Amino acid sequence: MFPLPSESLNLSSKAVQVQSTLRHKSLLLSIPLLQDNRVIFPFHLLFYYKTKAITMGEVDPIFIQDLEHRPKLTIIEAEGIPLIDLSVLNSADAVSDGSLVSDIGDACKKWGFFQVINHGVPLEKRERLEKAAREFFHQPMEEKAKIRRAEVRISGYSNAEHTKNVRDWKEVFDFTRQNPIIVPASTSPDEEQVVEWHNHWPQYPPQLREVGEEYAEEMEKLSFKLLELIALSLGLAADSFNGFFKDQTSNVRLNHYPPCPAPELALGLGRHKDGGALTVLAQDDVGGLEVKRKSDGEWIRVKPTPEAFIINVGDVMQVWSNERYQSVEHRVIANSEKERFSIPFFFNPAHYTIVKPLEELTSEEDPPRYRPYKWGRFFVTRKGGNFKKLDVENIQISHFRISESELANRFEKAVSVV
Ligand code: OGA
Ligand code: NI
Repeated sequence: MFPLPSESLNLSSKAVQVQSTLRHKSLLLSIPLLQDNRVIFPFHLLFYYKTKAITMGEVDPIFIQDLEHRPKLTIIEAEGIPLIDLSVLNSADAVSDGSLVSDIGDACKKWGFFQVINHGVPLEKRERLEKAAREFFHQPMEEKAKIRRAEVRISGYSNAEHTKNVRDWKEVFDFTRQNPIIVPASTSPDEEQVVEWHNHWPQYPPQLREVGEEYAEEMEKLSFKLLELIALSLGLAADSFNGFFKDQTSNVRLNHYPPCPAPELALGLGRHKDGGALTVLAQDDVGGLEVKRKSDGEWIRVKPTPEAFIINVGDVMQVWSNERYQSVEHRVIANSEKERFSIPFFFNPAHYTIVKPLEELTSEEDPPRYRPYKWGRFFVTRKGGNFKKLDVENIQISHFRISESELANRFEKAVSVV
């Protein structure tokens, strides 16, 4: 099984014996039994899997998703996620290309997700980082634990990520684009102090730092291009958002999803929306990323496309655009046979950015749908919450959403003033 830090694992009391016998094509679940201090689920995970019985092994309950969030075994492949060719950006009149801008706008509106090809990121830079990530994660746990991420620090290794309070079947290594980044010293609402978060690099593989930094630089370039195209697609000047990224808090994450003995119960990464402005993701050829289709709420698999990057709109862009573009839920299905690697780049503004709908995109008829919030506070609160299981729901932009009735009131007031 995927190695777990010993302090977080107490198998004798926590382990769930998950057995599968393959007789029927349905899932039967009955009440767990306590036996010898172990929770035994007396159910059989019953699905056809090459007609051969498999034992699911032991899965710590902290990984187990509620029934409604467990993945279906059927896969719907997303023909719908737009594939956008950016080669026109290499020509002289680059960003003024009208059809590219409208394709990007349509993709953001309809899906919140798209893939880009001919994006200008040199393939060798991506491959070098993918190789280094593989070398890093394949080390023994004692080595990786040497740069384990502390609670209030973004950079380093972790295998204790939680999404919506359920543990993810993965391990990660994080580093930021700018080093150090400046963030609020605490999550308190009136925190005035700031602190520096510095990158932490492992000894092995020795090239990780260099290839990681080179890759982050490429990601930043591509993100600015996309940001400008998105601004144009909203009818704004191309550089409308650029100023927010001067002291950006962007980071690269190396994700490793080891094979999982119970992909029906756990997720590689639980359903979530990305909190920043944009995400640029490189996935390998294994697949497993699913996006919630806006039209019907179905989970749609994003088919790996060699050399492409997957782009998605994050919560900050949802707020800036006053919901013209929405941040869409996504998740990663675990795989019982293959390990999977992915590398997202989270393009995040400076900590002091007050995130609110852009004035150009609001009016009396379309008033701001969000109360302003400070990015730095959102960011450090999220980072703290993903690190451990909390009793309360982690911070979400829905906490800043102005309710429909309040919006209607404001509209009425505005109309009556006129
Ligand atoms: C993420 C994410 C998807 C993937 O890290 O936020 O959505 O395919 N990753 O790893
Ligand atoms: Ni994500």
